[in-house]
Amino acid sequence: MSEHQQQGFSRRDFVKIAAAAPLVGSIHSTSGAGRGAEQVLANGRASTPGGPEFFDAPTIRGKPLTGPIKVGVIGCGGRGTGAAVQAMTADQDVILHAMGDVFADRLESSLAGITGHFEDAGDEQGSARIQVPAERRFIGFDSYQKVIDSGVDVVLLTGYPHFRPEHLRAAVAAGKHVFAEKPVAVDSPGIRGVLESAAISRSKGLACLVGFCWRYHDGLRGVFDRINSPDGGGIGEVTSVHTTYHTDTLSKRPRKPEWSDMEFQLRNWWHFAWASGDHIVEQAIHSIDRLSWAMNDRLPLKVTCLGGRAARNGPEHGNVFDHFAAVYEYEGGLRAYHTCRQIDGCPNDNSDYVFGTKGQAVVNGWVPTLSLRDLRGKEFWKYTPAADISGRDMYQNEHNALFASLRAGTPINDLERGAHSTLMSIMARQAAYTGQVITWKQAMEGQERLGPERYEFGPYQAAPVAIPGRTKFV
Ligand SMILES: NC(=O)c1ccc[n+]([C@@H]2O[C@H](COP(=O)([O-])OP(=O)(O)OC[C@H]3O[C@@H](n4cnc5c(N)ncnc54)[C@H](O)[C@@H]3O)[C@@H](O)[C@H]2O)c1
Repeated sequence: MSEHQQQGFSRRDFVKIAAAAPLVGSIHSTSGAGRGAEQVLANGRASTPGGPEFFDAPTIRGKPLTGPIKVGVIGCGGRGTGAAVQAMTADQDVILHAMGDVFADRLESSLAGITGHFEDAGDEQGSARIQVPAERRFIGFDSYQKVIDSGVDVVLLTGYPHFRPEHLRAAVAAGKHVFAEKPVAVDSPGIRGVLESAAISRSKGLACLVGFCWRYHDGLRGVFDRINSPDGGGIGEVTSVHTTYHTDTLSKRPRKPEWSDMEFQLRNWWHFAWASGDHIVEQAIHSIDRLSWAMNDRLPLKVTCLGGRAARNGPEHGNVFDHFAAVYEYEGGLRAYHTCRQIDGCPNDNSDYVFGTKGQAVVNGWVPTLSLRDLRGKEFWKYTPAADISGRDMYQNEHNALFASLRAGTPINDLERGAHSTLMSIMARQAAYTGQVITWKQAMEGQERLGPERYEFGPYQAAPVAIPGRTKFV
């Protein structure tokens, strides 16, 4: 049994936790709901009462939102359901106004889950804020536009990563505030579009918070703030980082006779690189974002990445790899490493090892290990939560932060940073698929757009599994 299975954290459990998180958050969250004006620090960064500096996201100038805030969900799966409840828990005047999904069954089960959450909690006020009549339940590939046009103030973009750039573009064009799950794109053209949306959203004073939830985890904030402080919290200057996301394989939804190619691939989206970006982009991106966090969000110059498909085969496993090992190179010759694997029967690990001139940080949010050590490995500091924030949930934290920033008129907008972490993941996949060293510039200028040009249920042949050395970088 793997370490994570012993800990009770498999990939799908993680998703379940993500969906179930509000239960935890609503019990433990001290930053609470309906807190109109959160404290905004002079440096333009917002802080939340009950947990000073619990987030440190980039904020911009906007217009404070007053009164009810209408929210629409686009992509009603595990995260869409969780995010809707978290949004409604973050602020007592958030109304769930509209929902959209490609599939009716997903939308209805999500709505039932959200309804059940508030009913089980005996929260009549919460139940009354679910206002999604049949005419505001939109189904199909164009459902995102209908949600955006339904009179919402905020959209939660929780569909498949492939669609995120288009959903972001439409939301920002319509002047909507956004919560967007990671990753924000699956390919280079998508990233360029997202960077355009980032610039437009900033110019319009719109929030765009990307779901890199670990940046809102109290314990990780405690460690990474120290790593990024002048003496690295005692570990000195960072010389190297290794982050891991070693976990079990993905679940499968066997093909039903009535499913077209498109429906089969969408229902098994994490097996298809065009829909998910592959697991280094879809899942391990959390660890690549933390690698970047440890490097103080400097951009790498280039990446070399080995990868392949050792234990996956058959059509239900689509065309994704099952392991990657990336080496990022930075100015000055610094190197940072990321390894990820989705193979059963191997030890699991989801840790960040940050090496400095005087010591190291070892970070694992699940176990949890949040520790600073000297060069001999002796721990000299470990994170201990202040009593008033103990047990807070990172998913709830990020929504508390988002809605507090909207009320304060200083919307969080970290879309550009989210796009950079996404491109770091994409460039590693590009390097692994092609077998080439990929520079940041190449990745930024890449022309290959993954996936179909038109979205419709019918035949669709996904690309073959990439072969390093033969698959070309485009
Ligand atoms: N931050 C986290 O910890 C975390 C955890 C889980 C998932 N995620 C991310 O959230 C996103 C969703 O993951 P999930 O686990 O909820 O998947 P899911 O399959 O449970 O749900 C996704 C839903 O979106 C719908 N959808 C997809 N494309 C759509 C489109 N174009 N228009 C309308 N609806 C669309 C699907 O039909 C499905 O119901 C992914 O990007 C994933 O990486 C983040």
